[in-house]
Amino acid sequence: MTQARARRRDRQVYLRSHPLLFALLAATRRSPAVRLGGTVLAHSRGAYADGLTRVPLDRTAEGTTGGAAGRLTGGGLLFDQDGDAHRGTRRSLAESLSADGVARLRPVWIEVLGRRLAPLAAGRPVDLVDVAAELSGATAAALLGLDVDARALAAAARAAAAAGAREHLPGLPLPGRRRAAHRAARHLNDLLASGSGAAPPAAPARAGAPSTAGCPSGEAGGGDPAGTAADAGRGDADGLAAMLAVAAINTTVAGLPRAAAWCADADLWAYAESDLEALTSELLRVTAPTPLLPRVAAGSGSLAGRPVRRGDRLILVARHAVDGHRRDPEPADPAPPHVTQLVFGAGPHACPGARLARVQFADALAALAPYRPVVTAARVDRSSALPGWATLFVIPTRRPSPGSPTA
Ligand code: HEM
Repeated sequence: MTQARARRRDRQVYLRSHPLLFALLAATRRSPAVRLGGTVLAHSRGAYADGLTRVPLDRTAEGTTGGAAGRLTGGGLLFDQDGDAHRGTRRSLAESLSADGVARLRPVWIEVLGRRLAPLAAGRPVDLVDVAAELSGATAAALLGLDVDARALAAAARAAAAAGAREHLPGLPLPGRRRAAHRAARHLNDLLASGSGAAPPAAPARAGAPSTAGCPSGEAGGGDPAGTAADAGRGDADGLAAMLAVAAINTTVAGLPRAAAWCADADLWAYAESDLEALTSELLRVTAPTPLLPRVAAGSGSLAGRPVRRGDRLILVARHAVDGHRRDPEPADPAPPHVTQLVFGAGPHACPGARLARVQFADALAALAPYRPVVTAARVDRSSALPGWATLFVIPTRRPSPGSPTA
């Protein structure tokens, strides 16, 4: 019953922003892959994985994530790179986002959570969208070694992504939309440039850095986040900085409040104390913050047996690949890691920020849980790049006793 309430609320982020697309996906989802003219929709897990790992993709095509990143950054970088260039950039980023790198960055968002959730202790409401914006802006700034205001960075990254998404709405191309997208991208790049030159961020946290509890197992790496991603905030790597900020901030601002709302509506808070990792994984699975991955085939192949031709548009439906649409979150019996990890993509371009995102979501859920918050008001963001809330207010139903770890 409570899960039904949670699902009903979460569906609003799709229904209010893209009702026709949502209806089309719902109507076709029983087939593993469906062709509609020059577009192939990949619904099944196999079709989704084929699209990411077996079909050659045009990483710079208009209307794809890579194409948008390319225009945003003026150079494309990571999303559209292949071969040696991509592997080199990925390696540097992987070091910054390794278990050690995440542990060094973690105090940044722990501080934001402590400060921004404090009103709950006094029984006052908190807007979790605003908290997620500051938290992700502060994290991105620290990752890039930039001295910029966290909320200003988050606002610029959200505006750049939203304007980029609007530019690609179906219908006649509107020059106004293109100009708005360029303006928003320029504002983000200017902000990033104004903040470069800051001291490497994670240094103070190195001594006694906390563990990455809640982080799934994965390759533990060494590396120096300050000396790798931070360098991306300067010089000719500005494009990478913009792309990273957009990727990290928009997914977090969309995903974190949705996960918390589901947790509150379905009353899953107790799992944050008994099985935080499973709770985090399951909430990421059902909310699938990047529910659709738009791609273009650069050559022929097939999605779950359905032939794909060069130039076909592919819509890879992450939400369906992980059963987000039909299996409620079950922290006591979670989907296996190879399934839940698919919300972060697969193959050579899989999300390098997955570990950071998992630890950050787990920390936010753990910080909220003692208050057993409930949602009091929520408004869908109809213009954001990813389905999400514009505001989502929660109030506590319980106050942790003074002296408890989060009080
Ligand atoms: C819940 C949060 C997040 C979700 C659901 C998510 C999901 C994704 C997905 C689905 C992709 C495409 C993967 C593919 O094509 O196979 C991606 C790529 C990417 N993500 Fe994330 N992401 C999240 C958070 C982050 C964070 C926090 C960062 C940075 C700190 C980040 C940085 C990136 C980058 C740089 C890429 C491009 C990788 C490449 O092209 O090689 N993401 N993400």
